This record gives sequence, C-alpha cells and structure tokens, in this order.
Amino acid sequence: TEVTYLNYAVLADHGWSLDDDDLFEKAAAADLDEVDYGQFTVEDEQSLLDAAEASGHAWPFACRGGACANCAVAVTDGELSQLVDHILPDELTDEGIRLSCNGKPESDSLEVVYNLEQRDDLADLKL
Ligand code: FES
Repeated sequence: TEVTYLNYAVLADHGWSLDDDDLFEKAAAADLDEVDYGQFTVEDEQSLLDAAEASGHAWPFACRGGACANCAVAVTDGELSQLVDHILPDELTDEGIRLSCNGKPESDSLEVVYNLEQRDDLADLKL
C-alpha cells in the first residue's frame, strides 16, 4: 500500500483544515519538507507506524498497544484497520481517526494526517 502522509502541525501554519476536500492537493503543491509531507510503502502485515519507522520517520507513539492515542492519525482517503483500540471515542473514529500502532492498510492507497496528538480533543484523552 502506498501511503501519502501530512504532518498535522503544518495545517495551522497554512490555514488548512482536516475537512478541506483538497487538503492533499494543497500539500502537494506547497513544497513541504519531507518530514511533513511525502510517500512510503506499507508491506503486508506491517502496521502503519512500523512502516513509517522503517521508512525513517519518527512519528509519535507511546504504548504501541492501542491504549494511549499518541499515535493517532486521521485517515482522509483509503481504509486503515483497527485491531486494538481501547481509547478512541466513537465521535473520533467516526471522523476517520485511527491508531497507527496497530492499524493496517486495507486499500491500495492511503492518505493520512499524522501527529494528531497535538489536537486538543486527543491531548485531553491522554490525561
Ligand atoms: Fe499508544 Fe498507538 S501508541 S495507542
């Protein structure tokens, strides 16, 4: 699976929102650093977080077991499975928020916004 990623931290800098339909088009055109925007491949049976790390990315995480939400991402296109989730409330999963530490792609391509731990509603979960 080909993953295109975007750092949540750059959205505010550019005045973008997770709800923007053309968020990834704008990101592609914005000449962002590789840490903030780019692509990598997830092999079969790899979690999204494992694949990001194997590609040299340092994405946030803590427990790696579906209990802390540090690793949360917003899936804006494609499907990411969720084997273990002990923390996300329904209103966030309904928005497409998933845990990258145990989420595995279920589509040929995936667009995700990582670094969501900075979002207020996710930061509150970790208290
Ligand atoms: Fe804790 Fe994924 S690292 S839920």
